[in-house]
Amino acid sequence: MSNEGSNQQLFLARIPHGVSGPQDFEVREAPIPVLKANELLIETHYVGIDAALRLITRDSDEFLFRVRPGDVVRGSVAGRIIESNNPAWRVGEYVNGSLGVQRYAISDGSGLERCDINQAPLGAWLGGFGVSGLTAYFAVFDACRPQPGQTVLINGAAGAVGSMAGQFAKLAGARVIGIAGGPEKCAWLINQLEYDVAIDYRRPDWFAHLKEAAPDRIDIIFDNVGGEIMDQSLKLIGMNGIVLMCGSTSQYAAEEMKGPANYIWLGTMRARLQGFVVFDYAHRYAEARKRMASWIKSGRIKIPQHVEAGDVGDFGAVFEKLYRGVNRGKMLLKLPAAGA
Ligand SMILES: NC(=O)c1ccc[n+]([C@@H]2O[C@H](COP(=O)([O-])OP(=O)(O)OC[C@H]3O[C@@H](n4cnc5c(N)ncnc54)[C@H](OP(=O)(O)O)[C@@H]3O)[C@@H](O)[C@H]2O)c1
Repeated sequence: MSNEGSNQQLFLARIPHGVSGPQDFEVREAPIPVLKANELLIETHYVGIDAALRLITRDSDEFLFRVRPGDVVRGSVAGRIIESNNPAWRVGEYVNGSLGVQRYAISDGSGLERCDINQAPLGAWLGGFGVSGLTAYFAVFDACRPQPGQTVLINGAAGAVGSMAGQFAKLAGARVIGIAGGPEKCAWLINQLEYDVAIDYRRPDWFAHLKEAAPDRIDIIFDNVGGEIMDQSLKLIGMNGIVLMCGSTSQYAAEEMKGPANYIWLGTMRARLQGFVVFDYAHRYAEARKRMASWIKSGRIKIPQHVEAGDVGDFGAVFEKLYRGVNRGKMLLKLPAAGA
């Protein structure tokens, strides 16, 4: 069948330098492709804004994925099937997948996930109920396994992963310290997410506060940002502690990436620095979601998100805002097809 109208797609215009913004992206119009056998057409409602995009737009082949100038920008989207030539997928179903930043996407169904919007609203499937929440879930309950009374430090604490990780660590009975940028975010961590302590890393005396908040040292450091925050925190790692390397946001846009200088504390404290990739747990996502859905229903967890309404061409400005720390919870771009 033929499709009326045109698609808007976002391309990487150049290799970014420093924090990425509108200057690095370009919108192009293209016809909506005609569906072939087994294909389906999805209209995008939400685009997930992922910090790691800045890492994979670097001029380097060293990372898991790469987006080069001239490529459609890689991005996780959630939307609705509006046409289908595939008997396994029905028109009207909600789905999410890595379909790129564009108004309409074609798929043969591979890599797509159905979104049951009775379990969680569609946008949440890209954030706290999606990869961000699953990352936090498996990192906390499988990789770190905090015990009641242990001290867990989470940096990037108000972000998509951090805001869920803090809630999960509290459910496990841990004492949770969050690090985030600015007094409002810190107040939000305490008042809305029930963190025990929140430390504003923009204050010059933040490390003194951390030391005061962790007199018996720290059992688990859940590291989302790397850099100076992680490096200073290493001085407080406890005996047999775990430093979980979930992400290194502070390094993604750096001209030259820097590792921790205080690694020596890992040796003294018999601690371990551990890598983590959520995709290793893909076979267990349903199990995690079942528990998360019941916690949402009973009010034991919240799914924080920051939604910016706009269109494909607004992606660059919203991405820049992520790096300026505007978000609490998952940053999402909501496209016109999602409605008001
Ligand atoms: N291992 C995995 O499988 C996996 C899966 C998903 C995500 N991740 C990683 O997890 C990390 C968190 O992701 P997310 O989606 O939850 O992002 P996010 O935390 O929602 O968003 C980025 C936040 O990082 C902070 N930030 C920005 N620049 C910073 C800097 N230079 N130093 C310190 N903090 C900075 C800002 O908060 P402040 O205002 O507090 O500075 C901002 O709100 C990322 O590194 C991501 O790549 C890993």
